Amino acid sequence: MNNVSLLSLFDSFPATRLFSWYDRHARSLPWRAISPEMAPAYHVFLSELMLQQTGVTTVIPYFNQFIARWPDIYALAGADDDAVLAAWAGLGYYARARNMLKAAREIVSSHKGKFPEKPDDLQKLPGIGPYTAGAIAAIAFARPAIVLDGNIERILVRYAGIDKEVQAVKPALKEIYKHICPEKRRPDFPQALMDVGAGVCQPRRADCGRCPLQKGCRSAQLDDPTRLPIRPQKKTKPVRQGAVYIIRNQRDEVLLGKRPNKGLLGGMLTFPSHGWDGSACPDWLADEASGLNWRKEQAEIRHVFTHFTAVITVFEGKIEPGVNLPDGYSWQACAPETLPSLMAKCYQAVQK
Ligand code: ADE
Repeated sequence: MNNVSLLSLFDSFPATRLFSWYDRHARSLPWRAISPEMAPAYHVFLSELMLQQTGVTTVIPYFNQFIARWPDIYALAGADDDAVLAAWAGLGYYARARNMLKAAREIVSSHKGKFPEKPDDLQKLPGIGPYTAGAIAAIAFARPAIVLDGNIERILVRYAGIDKEVQAVKPALKEIYKHICPEKRRPDFPQALMDVGAGVCQPRRADCGRCPLQKGCRSAQLDDPTRLPIRPQKKTKPVRQGAVYIIRNQRDEVLLGKRPNKGLLGGMLTFPSHGWDGSACPDWLADEASGLNWRKEQAEIRHVFTHFTAVITVFEGKIEPGVNLPDGYSWQACAPETLPSLMAKCYQAVQK
């Protein structure tokens, strides 16, 4: 099917029906304003960054905590890097948090604290790609912008009955979005579609009887409305074996060190460890700490990263007099909520 005939399938897209459904069924989410109010750009920016790779339910308490602690862009720009990374712990993808801080500082230093409103200008900020730029421009400023997240892509593919993987039709989906997004209620349009995607037209469950887009939807006429989009072949993730060492002193503090800013868990606090990140066993563990009386935790810890699964053996030990500390590590009272999830899981495993 060429693009023109694909677009024509959307000529009578029921946007009005979508809006009246949204007026009754919109999820109440803390970063949203009730239409026609517009949400503050800072709230949209924070929530969209958090939602990039993390689900709504997980994000809500983090979002609330961030706006309570850093209520506006000036507060965030002035925040301590380590405090922000600790508050982000558990959300994963820590480069997002560091880029968020860089972007906040640039908005304050180069834009007098005001967010740029156009997608192209937003995209010049660190960590803001086409999706986030479009979402901020549309949701916070009612600008014409393309907002295509996984939910919206699925809905459009199903509506038109496109027998392909999403990846193969991304450019066409952009054209479709521009074709169907009304000038009125630009902030609500993508959010209404997201809510349909989250509650009605889900990846493996479609409740077409409750869907405001049912009329005109080609997939609603199929025996299985969830057949499309074609799902890409799942790649099996490689497994990386590793070990994590939880080492205590007499005061019940634990040995923690900050990882370099670049790379996996960049800038986060971790216990001495190796293997899961591709590293060899460090000299300190092999030599200096080899004589400690280690207790090996029976159950291994599994943690899924984007490109691999880490399978970790956890060791617990007490430091002994005369053992030197490894470079870059220090004794700290352990606050597992400030650790990346993999390390928090390891810590919790030895608490039992
Ligand atoms: N996922 C990404 N952005 C979202 C938003 N604004 N509302 C709900 N889910 C989202």
